[in-house]
Amino acid sequence: MSAEGQERFQTLHELVKAAKLRLNANIWDYLVGATETETTLQRNRASLDAWAFRPRVLRDVSTVDCSGDFLGRRRIRLPVALAPVGSLDSFDPGGAATAGRAASAFGVPIIVSSVTEPGLEGSAAANPDGPKIFQLYVRGGPDFIDSHIRRAMDAGYDAFAITVDTAHYSRRERDIAKRFVKHWRARSEGMNHQAALSWADIARVRAAHPGVTLILKGIGTAEDATMAVEHGIDVVYVSNHGGRQLDHGRGSLAVLPEVVEAVSGRARVWMDGGISRGTDLVKAIILGAELVGIGRLYCYGLAAAGQDGVRRVLELLEDEVQTCLGLLGATSFAAADRSMLHPVAPLVVPHVHSAFPLLAEPHRGY
Ligand SMILES: Cc1cc2nc3c(=O)[nH]c(=O)nc-3n(C[C@H](O)[C@H](O)[C@H](O)COP(=O)(O)O)c2cc1C
Repeated sequence: MSAEGQERFQTLHELVKAAKLRLNANIWDYLVGATETETTLQRNRASLDAWAFRPRVLRDVSTVDCSGDFLGRRRIRLPVALAPVGSLDSFDPGGAATAGRAASAFGVPIIVSSVTEPGLEGSAAANPDGPKIFQLYVRGGPDFIDSHIRRAMDAGYDAFAITVDTAHYSRRERDIAKRFVKHWRARSEGMNHQAALSWADIARVRAAHPGVTLILKGIGTAEDATMAVEHGIDVVYVSNHGGRQLDHGRGSLAVLPEVVEAVSGRARVWMDGGISRGTDLVKAIILGAELVGIGRLYCYGLAAAGQDGVRRVLELLEDEVQTCLGLLGATSFAAADRSMLHPVAPLVVPHVHSAFPLLAEPHRGY
């Protein structure tokens, strides 16, 4: 990012504020909203706030390495991925091409949604060298799934994710109340295929594509994590879709430990949900996630300042991680362990921006 850009955004909440100023109310609500009473969304934050740190001192933290691992294939600058987000083109005209370029320039993967522009091939072509994954909503039978997997591998994606927490589309009341229908929802033929999806389909996909790294995104229990492992899934991705699908679910960080225990090293475990700060990221990695997805957070950057904005989000997140690890007495994620966390009662009332209290103070910050 240019020096001017760095000067402009000094904190994450400044990017949130700038995004809000640039987006119309429909798109803003599409981005920040969740389902029905939005309790799952709030629990994502509450589950992160339910841990405090137990810092260790006098450990020489003059150098802190914030890097992570990507599928055992390469080091990435932070153990973070841009989570799949549909309609990224509503935040920036380049959509997943812009976000992918930012991810790759910074040095983290992007998971490209099947419902964003510029599509499977276009998003890959914009980001030929960066680590990338394609995520599918199932809108057809076996041929539909197989052809997407083949196209994704041909286009150079490293892995393939199937989202499994969307058997039924949820009631997003912010959208419904305004009679707002996203364009991909308006032409969402084939939704019943996602509802009909079963473990038998996963077994078939696994057998038909033995060499492909497969991810199930949207696992919310130890039982389903075990099923995923038994079906030969490579990555169990704990997620409640950012609170946008089933309401009254548990917070993702509250789910993570039981999944890590059930998987017991037989697959990789990733998670997302509510990650807004470097401290959130550190908590998730300590509790057993190998990689953490960010959804809304990078979209604020994308809406605020396109590629530079996403990059700035990642830079600020990295800065916060470095500070957190250093103050914990850890020189890397590997050096941070469970003894550095302590369960506590959350202090703040959780909501989508409760990690950013200065947003509520109109005369402060950006
Ligand atoms: C605007 C928006 C669109 C999303 N679209 C998709 C999608 O197309 N596919 C998918 O698997 N998840 C989708 N998600 C869920 C994200 O991948 C991710 O699970 C969630 O945003 C994580 O929570 P966070 O936003 O609190 O970081 C979307 C989330 C948002 C906020």
